Amino acid sequence: MSILAKNKFTITSALPYANGPLHIGHLAGAYIPGDIFARFLRLNGKDVVFVCGSDEHGAAITIKAKKEGVSPREIIDKYNQQIKSSFEDFGIHFDIYHRTSEDIHHKLSQEFFLNLYEKGEFIEKFSEQYYDEEFHQFLADRYIVGTCPHCHNEGAYGDQCEKCGTSLNPTDLISPKSTLSGKTPVLKETKHWYLPLDKYQPWLEKWLIEGKKNVLKSNVFGQCQSWLKSGLQPRSMTRDLDWGVDVPLEEAKGKKLYVWLDAPIGYISATKQWAIDHGKDWEAYWKKQANPEDDSTLIHFIGKDNIVFHCIIFPAILHAHGDYILPENVPANEFLNLEGEKLSTSRNHAVWLHEYLEEFVDKQDELRYVLTSILPETSDSEFTWKDFQSRVNNELVAILGNFVNRVMVLSHKYFEGKVALGTALTDQDQSVLNELASYPLEITQSISLYRFREALSHFMNAARLGNKYLADEEPWKLFKEDPERVKTVLYVATQIVANLAVLAQPFLPKTAGKLFTMLGLEPQDWACAGSTSIVADGQVLGEAQLLFEKVTDEQVDFQLQKLKAAKTKNVLQNTQASPAKSNISYDDFLQMDIRVGTILEAEKVAKTKKLLKLKIDTGIDQRTVVSGIAEYFAPEDIVGKQVSILVNLEPREIKGITSQGMILMAEDADGRLDFVNPISNIKAGSTIR
Ligand code: 2FM
Ligand code: ZN
Repeated sequence: MSILAKNKFTITSALPYANGPLHIGHLAGAYIPGDIFARFLRLNGKDVVFVCGSDEHGAAITIKAKKEGVSPREIIDKYNQQIKSSFEDFGIHFDIYHRTSEDIHHKLSQEFFLNLYEKGEFIEKFSEQYYDEEFHQFLADRYIVGTCPHCHNEGAYGDQCEKCGTSLNPTDLISPKSTLSGKTPVLKETKHWYLPLDKYQPWLEKWLIEGKKNVLKSNVFGQCQSWLKSGLQPRSMTRDLDWGVDVPLEEAKGKKLYVWLDAPIGYISATKQWAIDHGKDWEAYWKKQANPEDDSTLIHFIGKDNIVFHCIIFPAILHAHGDYILPENVPANEFLNLEGEKLSTSRNHAVWLHEYLEEFVDKQDELRYVLTSILPETSDSEFTWKDFQSRVNNELVAILGNFVNRVMVLSHKYFEGKVALGTALTDQDQSVLNELASYPLEITQSISLYRFREALSHFMNAARLGNKYLADEEPWKLFKEDPERVKTVLYVATQIVANLAVLAQPFLPKTAGKLFTMLGLEPQDWACAGSTSIVADGQVLGEAQLLFEKVTDEQVDFQLQKLKAAKTKNVLQNTQASPAKSNISYDDFLQMDIRVGTILEAEKVAKTKKLLKLKIDTGIDQRTVVSGIAEYFAPEDIVGKQVSILVNLEPREIKGITSQGMILMAEDADGRLDFVNPISNIKAGSTIR
C-alpha cells in the first residue's frame, strides 16, 4: 500500500546525546531524511507530527561532564542549545525539539516502567556486575570497554559494539576495562530489572521477520534477522547510576532507568508536550485506536548503530505495554565517511555544523543538497570537499541557479517581469510540459520508498529539462524578430521554475522560499506540482535573487587544511609519551643482548591474525622468531629488512613454534607498530647498546 494512502504520521529522528555538537554524519544519518519525509507528507496535506529532542541521560552525558570537569546539567544545557540551533539553521523542521531531562518525560518513563512492572513483565535478578573499586561505581554501558566477542573490535562498549552493531552485556566483553580508572573491574552483586527479550522472540519473529520482510530496507532487515538468529537474551532496564530517571520503586532507591529504556519514550513525551502546547491529542499519534485504520503510522529515522533499539527493544517494550502502535518502518541509514576515513568526534575528524555555518554563511541548502545526493542509504558513503565543490558548482550553480537566473533576467529585460502567453504552445513546448508533469510522481515514488537520493536526482532532472529547453529555444536570439514567441517560451520556462519551487520544498526549503518570492507566489502544496499554470497569465515576477554561489578552491583548501591540522594535533596528542619506568643499573641493561638481524623469511602463522613466523639471520645463527606484527606488515614486504632483536630472551612456545628471541618494535599510543632498525645496512650480528 502506498504511504500516501495513510493519513496520520508520527515521525521521529533519533534523539542526539546532548554531549557534543553535531556533524555532517548526524545530518546524513537521521535528520535530513526525516525532514525531507516530514516536509513531503505535510505538503501532501497529511496530519504529521515530527518529533526529536536531546537525549540527556546515560553514560554519554556523565562521562563528558567528568571530562570537562563540570556537572551533567551544565553539559546538557550547553549542548541542547547548540544542537537545537544547528537544526533550526539547517531547516530541520521538527514540530517539537524536546529534552529528556524534562519532568513530563521522567513521569512518562516511570509510568512505562511501572506498567510493565505491575504486569510482571520484568525478571528481577541479583547478579554479579562489573564494579570499579577505585571510583566506587558499577560499570554499565559506556563506562566499560573491552573486546567484542563477535568481531574482536577492541573498543566495544558494555551495551553495544559500534563496529558490528551487536548488542552486548558488560559480561560479554573480553578483557573488560573501566573507562573511569582504566583498570580491570571486579565483580560485585547487585539487583536489576530485566526485560525478557527471549520471551518476546517468537512474537518479534512474526512481527518483524514475517511481517516486515518486504517493508524494511535490506540493510535493516538483515541486521534484525541476524540478532534474532543469535537468540535474544534478557536485558537489564535499570542501572546503578546517579544520573537519569529514578526507578520508581522503593526497593530500587538510587537506581536509574537504562537510558535506552527512557530515550525512545522521549519520542512520546515530546509528542505529549507538543500536544499540550498546540491543543492536540497526543494519544492519537501513539496509541492504538478503536478502528485500526485510524492508527497513526510510526516511522523512526535513525543511523545503523541504533537499529537494535528501534527494531527490537523498543517494539518489545511497546508490545509488552500493549496500548501503543508499533513502528511501520525504520529506514536506518549506514554511516557517512569523510575524506576516506570514518567521521570521529574524538579525533576531531568531522565537519561540525556550527563551524560550517560560520564558514559558509547562508549556504545551508548547499550542504543539504550535497548530503542528500550522497546519503548512505544502502551502504556507507563518502563526503569529500572536492565533491562538495563540484556538486555545488556543477549542479546547483550551473544547472538550477543558472536556469532560474536566465528566466528571471530575460523576463525582466524583455517584458518587465510580466508573465504572459504569447503565441500558441508548440509541440515542443507541450512535450516539455508533459515531461515536467511526470516528475512529481517520480519523486513521490522515490520518497515513499525512502530513496531520497533518487528523489533528489529526479528533481535535478526537472531543472536540467528547463536548462535544455532554454538552450534549445534560444529566446535571446528570437526576441527581435518574434517577441510573441519569446513571451511563450518564457511563460513555459516560468512554469518550470514554479514547479521547481514546489518540488524543491522537501529538499531545499530556503531555496524553495526564495523561488516563491521571485515568482511573487505564496508557497504551494504538492498537489500543484505538475501543473502548467502555477503562474497565472499576467503575473508580475518579483526581483531576481542569487540562488547559489560557486564554492572556491580557496574554501576547499581551507577545509582540507583544517582536517589536516586536526590530524596533526591528534598525532601529537597521541604521541604524548607514557611516563618513564623506574631506573635500572647499567649492568642490568648490559644483560640484554640486542643485535642487528636480517629477516630472511616471513610467513603467517596459521589460524592467527597477528602472528608472523620469521627466520632471522642474527650474525650468530639463523633462528626462528614469532612476532605479533602480522596486522601491520605483510610477509612479502619485510623480507630483507634489518631489525633489532633481543637474542638472549628465554625461548618460548607460541602456537606450537619455538620462538628464539624477540624483535624490538616501536609502538604508539594507538598500538601502531614499526621496526626499530638501522638507517643504513649494517652487518647482521652488530650489537645494539
Ligand atoms: O545513539 C544516540 O545518539 C542515541 N542518543 C539515540 C537515541 S534515539 C532514541 F531512542 F531516543
Ligand atoms: Zn563487534
